[in-house]
Formats: sequence, structure tokens, C-alpha cells
Amino acid sequence: MNDLKHVAIILDGNGRWAKEKGLSRSKGHYHGFTNLKKLSEYIFDKGIKVLSVYAFSTENFKRDKKEVDYLMNLFQKAFKGYGEVLNQKGVKVVFSGRRDPLPKGVLNTIDDISSKTKNNTKGIFNICINYGGQYEILDAVKNISKKVKEEKLEIDDITLETVYQNMYQDLPPVDLMIRTSGEQRLSNFLLFQNAYAEFYFPKVYFPDFNEKEFDKAVEEYHNRDRRFGNVKENK
Ligand code: IPE
Ligand code: IPE
Ligand code: MG
Repeated sequence: MNDLKHVAIILDGNGRWAKEKGLSRSKGHYHGFTNLKKLSEYIFDKGIKVLSVYAFSTENFKRDKKEVDYLMNLFQKAFKGYGEVLNQKGVKVVFSGRRDPLPKGVLNTIDDISSKTKNNTKGIFNICINYGGQYEILDAVKNISKKVKEEKLEIDDITLETVYQNMYQDLPPVDLMIRTSGEQRLSNFLLFQNAYAEFYFPKVYFPDFNEKEFDKAVEEYHNRDRRFGNVKENK
């Protein structure tokens, strides 16, 4: 069995799910979020330590204002109650992404949940909003350079560990990366942390990616032969 510590999910296909049912894209996002609540509780109950989800990319700001506004409102409203549930479960909630230009209401909600749950130890839920993997690396480079300039860090002491520590959140590498809806690309998600992840691309749209679908992903993951560049006997 492969160790499974960090699962990352690109929550994709809300729009197509809604379209197939003759519903608006907003309804698709609503159902996607409802599914995320149930699924994330299930994932932490299974003992997985770190869950990262891609909820909104830096590029998603290119969408219609109406859709962006709907999503921002959804994050703000839904995360309030949901944060409380996660807190009771002992999960630490963290956010990854650039703050600007997120609306104040969303930032307040993010800050509130992060501070309420900061001492929890059962698991880490990393919610990526206004997140871009290239920007995350760029921002880490800037942080590290600043430390060097302020003579807090020697160039020769910069290691891969330093880079991890200067990401938006100091998390372990991703083990299993899932993207729903059949698309097979990263769309700028956790570029550094996905270096040796196993990829899994189920056809189902995110609102239908339920507990059973997740279990299938985990089963497939355990059947993969993770070699990390080494040579291993077939299992
Ligand atoms: C994912 O669903 C959610 C966000 C990007 C916020 P999409 O909105 O991308 O759904 P599709 O890909 O258009 O079906
Ligand atoms: C990636 O999905 C971002 C999120 C799921 C939040 P997109 O639907 O925005 O990605 P592309 O445009 O298909 O690459
Ligand atoms: Mg999409």
C-alpha cells in the first residue's frame, strides 16, 4: 500500500453538470459546493491528513462578472457555517492564493476560519482561492530573496525544504491529484507540490464525485507503482 497523506482535487465540471440538467452555471456551483462539504468530511474521517482543493483560480477572474460575483458570495456565505463544522471535527483550515483582488467579505471569512481553527491537529484543509501555481512559486522566490537581502538567510542554505516553507502554506508534497470532469491538465494547480503526484482523471463532473467515486480513486492509487526514479520489483 502506498502512503496517502496529501490528496489534491481540482473541482471541475460544475458548469457542464448544470448544463446537462438545463440548469444555470450558478446552480452547478451550488451543488458542487454542497458536494464538497460532504466529501471533505468523508475524506478526513478516512484519516487523510491533508486535503487541498482548487476552488477558484487566478485565471477564473476572466469569467463573467455575474458568475464571479456568485462564486464570491457562495464562498463567503457557505464557508461560515462549514468552517464551524470543520472546527468541531478538529480540522485546521488554511487558504492558499493571493489576497488581491478578493472582496473584503471573502477575506474576512477566510481570516476568521483560519484563526478559529489554527490549533486543530486532526487534518489540514487547504482551500485554494484566487490561486495560481506560477504566482505561488513567484511569491516564494520573492519571499526568499527578501530574507537573503535582509541577511536572514544565506544563498547556500536555500534548499528544497526552504522552498516548501515559503509556499503559501507549508504542506507536504501531493500524493494523489484528482481532476474531475475528464479534463487532463493541471490548469496552474500546485505546480511545485505535484512534482511526483499520481494523477487520476475520473469522467464524472464534480457535483457527482461522491464518496464511492473517491474510494475508487484511492483504490487505483494503491495499485500504482510509485518509483520516484528508483527501480522497484513489481508488486
Ligand atoms: C469548476 O467548474 C469550478 C470553478 C472553476 C470555480 P467549472 O465552472 O469550471 O465547470 P465547467 O468546466 O465549465 O464545466
Ligand atoms: C480550474 O478549472 C480551476 C478550478 C477548478 C477552480 P477551470 O475550469 O477554470 O480550468 P480550465 O479553464 O478548463 O483549464
Ligand atoms: Mg472548468
